[in-house]
Amino acid sequence: MQVFPGIRRTTPSPSLSARLRIPTKPKTPQRRHLCFASSDGGGFGLSVSDGELESRGFRVRRTAAGLDVESLNEVFARVGFPRRDPARIRRALEHAGGAVVWVEDARSKAEGRPVAFARATGDGVFNAVVWDVVVAPSFQGMGLGRAVMERLVAELRGMGVSNIALYAEPRVVGFYRPLGFAADPDGIRGMVYSRKNQQKKRR
Ligand SMILES: CC(C)(COP(=O)(O)OP(=O)(O)OC[C@H]1O[C@@H](n2cnc3c(N)ncnc32)[C@H](O)[C@@H]1OP(=O)(O)O)[C@@H](O)C(=O)NCCC(=O)NCCS
Repeated sequence: MQVFPGIRRTTPSPSLSARLRIPTKPKTPQRRHLCFASSDGGGFGLSVSDGELESRGFRVRRTAAGLDVESLNEVFARVGFPRRDPARIRRALEHAGGAVVWVEDARSKAEGRPVAFARATGDGVFNAVVWDVVVAPSFQGMGLGRAVMERLVAELRGMGVSNIALYAEPRVVGFYRPLGFAADPDGIRGMVYSRKNQQKKRR
C-alpha cells in the first residue's frame, strides 16, 4: 500500500508550510499509557469552520464513506499505533451509535486518504467513548487534531450524548483539556479489562 504524499514528507513543501501554524517533526512512537477523562458539557463550538479548512486545502468528512482504510492504517503506523486488519477496522466503523470525523488533503490526487481522524463508539443516547484520535505527522500542529475532536464532540452532542470519555496518553492530556475533557473528574478512575492483565494473573 502506497503511503500518501503528505505522510512521506519530513520537510514541509512551500504550499504545505503556508498552511502550517506550528511546524513539527514526526513524533517518535511511544508506549501507550492509559488515563481516564470524561466530558459532560462545556463549549463545543468550532474554532475553525469547514469553509476555512476547505480554503486551507482540507476537506472534512463526517461519515466513513469513501475512507481509505489502508491509508488510515498507514497513519496509525506512522504515529506508533498498531496496524490493524482493514476488514476489522471497517466493521468497527460501521458500529451503530458512534461517530466518525476525518479530514482529507483536498490537494492530494488520491481521494479518501485521511490526514486527521477521530472516531467514537457509543449507545447514541447517553454515552460515548472516543478512539483513534490521530493526525498524520506531517500535518500535526496545524489545528487538525482540534478540528476533528471538536467536530466529533459536536456530532455526539447533536445526538444528545452528554457523557463522552476517552483514554489519553499522559503526553496528550494537555491536548484534550481545552476541548472540555477533565482527567479523573470527581475522583472517578478508569478501569480497563485487558487480556494482558488476565494472562499475568494466571502466571
Ligand atoms: C495528539 C494529536 C492528535 C494532536 O493533533 P494536532 O493536529 O497536532 O494538534 P492541534 O494542532 O490541533 O493542536 C491544538 C492545540 O493543542 C495543543 N497540543 C497539541 N498536541 C499537544 C500535546 N501533546 N499536549 C498538549 N497540547 C497539545 C497545540 O499546541 C494546540 O494549542 P494552541 O491552540 O494553544 O495552539 C497529534 O499530535 C497526534 O496524532 N499524535 C499522535 C497520536 C496520539 O498520540 N493520539 C492521541 C492518542 S490518546
